[in-house]
Amino acid sequence: MNKYTKILSLLLLAILIMPAARADFALKSVQIDTANKAALRNGAAFFMTYCMACHSVRAERFSDMSKVLGLPLDEIQKNFNSTSLKVHDAIVSPMSPADAVHWFGLAPPDLSAIIKMKGANWVYTYLTSFYLDPTRATGVNNAVFHNVAMPDVLWQLQGLQAPMYKEVSRNGQQVKVLSGLKQVTSGTLSPAAFDKAMRDVVTFLYWANHPHQAEREHIGLWVMAFMALFIIVAYLLKHEYWRAVRH
Ligand code: HEC
Repeated sequence: MNKYTKILSLLLLAILIMPAARADFALKSVQIDTANKAALRNGAAFFMTYCMACHSVRAERFSDMSKVLGLPLDEIQKNFNSTSLKVHDAIVSPMSPADAVHWFGLAPPDLSAIIKMKGANWVYTYLTSFYLDPTRATGVNNAVFHNVAMPDVLWQLQGLQAPMYKEVSRNGQQVKVLSGLKQVTSGTLSPAAFDKAMRDVVTFLYWANHPHQAEREHIGLWVMAFMALFIIVAYLLKHEYWRAVRH
């Protein structure tokens, strides 16, 4: 085995064992429908209230929501923007990076590409899977983001969750892994209402990560119609040419 095959096989091995190492806590699956304007609107409002203090979505402007939600600019400004930003400004958190580093040890990431990077299921599971962990400065940990720096900003809505563990044998050793979460205090929202709020905020993030998807699908239909028409024209043309050749 030369050096390169060795590196290659190590890489392959890493790829093969990666899902196995991550699969301890199953992701919950979430259905996203960005054509659902009510969900998108609730999600946007939720994001502005509960997330924007720390996170930006720089790829989008407040005004971009006007078209997709079918609302005039002044209503967007009134309902979604409680900062001093203008309606044509990008959605940028008022938190300064220096303050963020001071409080959390790092700046909360911009969420313009989070769904593309990690998927809607991951983000949904992440938001619903904070659990009590007294060893952490924030008092919480996260089932899919080990030792996360984000505090559980939604605990009042969701209530607190405690971890449940199971023993599994790994490489011949018994190890304790997180197997689930159980609610230990109730929140101001019912579990179903909390789940819906999380689905809505993920819907908003999905849209913000793929703002032109609806437009692309619309254009796609026209392209298909054009192709169909073109096939008919091409067929008739072929027919016409060959008639000339045969005669
Ligand atoms: C008090 C500040 C704060 C608030 C409010 C907050 N977050 Fe966070 N968030 C953070 C920090 C800090 C991190 C980085 C965690 C890390 O890297 O350990 C983070 C990480 C994340 C991540 C993972 C990013 C990645 O790259 O993996 C997602 C997704 C996220 N937050 C979504 C949200 C959503 C949605 C809301 C609103 C419901 C929200 N956050 C509210 C501080 C915050």
